[in-house]
Parts: sequence; structure tokens; C-alpha cells
Amino acid sequence: MTDRFQFTLNATDGAARTGVIDTPRGQIRTPAFMPVGTAATVKAMMPESVRETGADILLGNTYHLMLRPGAERVDRLGGLHRFMNWDRPILTDSGGFQVMSLASLRKLTEEGVTFASHIDGSKHVLTPERSMEIQRLLGSDIVMAFDECPALPASEEEVANSMRLSMRWAQRSRDAFGDRPGHALFGIMQGGVTRDLREESAKALTGIGFDGYAVGGLAVGEGQEAMFGVLDYAPGFLPQDKPRYLMGVGKPDDIVGAVQRGIDMMDCVLPSRSGRTGQAWTRRGQVNIKNARHQDDPRPLDENCTCPACRSYSRGYLHHVFRAGEMISGMLLTWHNLHYYQELMAGLRAAIAEGRLDGFVADFHAARAEGDI
Ligand code: GUN
Ligand code: ZN
Repeated sequence: MTDRFQFTLNATDGAARTGVIDTPRGQIRTPAFMPVGTAATVKAMMPESVRETGADILLGNTYHLMLRPGAERVDRLGGLHRFMNWDRPILTDSGGFQVMSLASLRKLTEEGVTFASHIDGSKHVLTPERSMEIQRLLGSDIVMAFDECPALPASEEEVANSMRLSMRWAQRSRDAFGDRPGHALFGIMQGGVTRDLREESAKALTGIGFDGYAVGGLAVGEGQEAMFGVLDYAPGFLPQDKPRYLMGVGKPDDIVGAVQRGIDMMDCVLPSRSGRTGQAWTRRGQVNIKNARHQDDPRPLDENCTCPACRSYSRGYLHHVFRAGEMISGMLLTWHNLHYYQELMAGLRAAIAEGRLDGFVADFHAARAEGDI
């Protein structure tokens, strides 16, 4: 254990990296996938089970928790780790991105953003300073700077103005965060799909100085090709010796492509959300458990998977409980999906460490090309 936040790079393979982030709450092996626990729970999973899938760190959301149950209440109840019974690292997003996608009556100014809650319509304000305060009250280990992410498509001028606002907010976030040993503050690069804007944003952030750097403003409708286009250069604008976090990504093939391009951390609701809608992710691609072809199938989802859903239940059972609307359906499929994602990350880490990432990626695509059994 360490009382400091520290990133150690252990090996590289091409642009890909593997290493470890040491924090007072434990190690984060990178490349890392962070399951999303928006409302102080990874939906349908006990925290012990999330850990069993191999997760080192969870993501929480400023926006949701400030509205319900409230950051001050979480603080009074012992902080987010104690509140949700997860004692390992937690990264919290800063709120601006969720305001833009979920809240109504949004008003954006230099100062911050005012909005109406998607839950009860009540009025709220978020600024860089308030976002830092909320994330401190939650007890977040990795705090995200307060930023704004324009919805694509947007004009280059809109993207540039938005990015420059986010960079002024990044400085205010840094100032408000102060010096908190053992806790990290990450800056968020913006700039859409424009190389010059990405470079300008990276220079602004590295000039301020952060403990890690996120690539924001991607996976917002630009498509995989455009996203990989940005990832071909954007990580190279960031310091080698700090973690790089791609926000809100993604499908398994997005993750593999991002890691190949030098990304160390990712988060996405996909494995947990799709588990609740009957979608499973396996080595052979996506499986829709609702499909009638599974109803008499005695085989597991994936005979090589060691998760509880695959160890003890048939496709016929998983199909039945989904169709019957039983809660165990979301529980088992979420567990399987998170297990699959963490196995993928472990495979990527080992392949990078052993200098065989190209072969690993070729096998990954070949298994998917075969399709489901
Ligand atoms: N989640 C996905 N993309 C983003 C982004 O650009 N900014 C923030 N704060 N969160 C995100
Ligand atoms: Zn499984």
C-alpha cells in the first residue's frame, strides 16, 4: 500500500502500454476497464461480485449523486466507498457531460451551468468549484475536471469555443481541487475530431498539470473510424508518464482499438446496461438471449467462460428468465458481461507485457468473425 497516487509503466508494445496505478485504496492494473456505478451501485451486482469479475476501480457520477441522495448526505453517511460498500478506488465524472445529456432547461455561461433535474425538475447549479466540492464530499479517489462536451456534429468554431471554455474550467478545477495527497485530479482533453484543437487542448492541460489526462468528446456519434482517427494522434499529445483515460468507451472492439493506440483506462455502461436488456458479449461477438433459437439449448453462453452464468446455467434457462422478466436474468447476464470485459482487459495486459499484442488482436477478431455457436 502507498499513501500516494502513482502511475508506473511496466511495458509497451507499439503504442500500447501496461502498468499499474498505485493508490491508497489499492492498485489499478492498466489497461483498466471501469464498470459504471452511476447511482452508487453497479446495477444488478453486489460490490463483492463486481470485484470477483476482476474490477480494480468503479466509476461514479457527480450529476446523479448530487441530485439523489445528495453529496452532503453521502458525506454524512461516511463517503461513497462506505455508503456503497466498495473500498477500492472510485473515479467520479464531474457532471457537465451528464447535465448536457440528461438535464433540461440547461443554461451555459462562463461561470458554469444551471439546469433542471431529470428526476424532479428542481433547479441546480454546477461550476468547476462546486463539482470539485461534490467530488471531495463523495470521497472520490480520481476526480475529473469540470468540462463541457459539445454534441457532434458541431461546427469547428463551436467545438473550438467549447474546448477553450473547458480549458478555462480545467484551470479553475485545478485551483479549487488544491493539494490532496492520495487523491488525483484528471484533466479532460476536448477538441472534437480536429487535430489542431486536440493539440491546443493537450497543451493547455499539460501547462496546468494534472495527475492523469482523459480524452473526452469521443463516442458521441462520430463513429469508430473517426474515433480511431483521433486516437491515432491524441494520446501522443499527452505525457508518457501519466495515465490516459478514454471516457465512455465502449464496445469490445472499441476497447481493443483504443488500447492499441495508447489508452490506459476506459469506462462504459454497455456491459452492465446490455446485461439488463438480454444482450451478452462473448469471445464470438454479441448474443441476443431473447432469440427463440436459445430456448431448447442446454449449452452455456460460452463453454470457456468461468463466470457463474456460464458455469451453472444453460442458454435455455437464461432465455427463459429473460422472457419471464425475472431479476436473475439481469444479474446473470451483467455478471457474465463484466467478467468477459475484465477477461479481455487481462488478456490485453498480458499480451502487451509479453510483446504479443498483434497476435492477441488477430485472435480476438478471428473468434468474432466465426460468430456465435
Ligand atoms: N463521458 C464521456 N465523454 C465525456 C466527456 O467528454 N466529458 C466528461 N466529463 N465525461 C464524459
Ligand atoms: Zn460467462
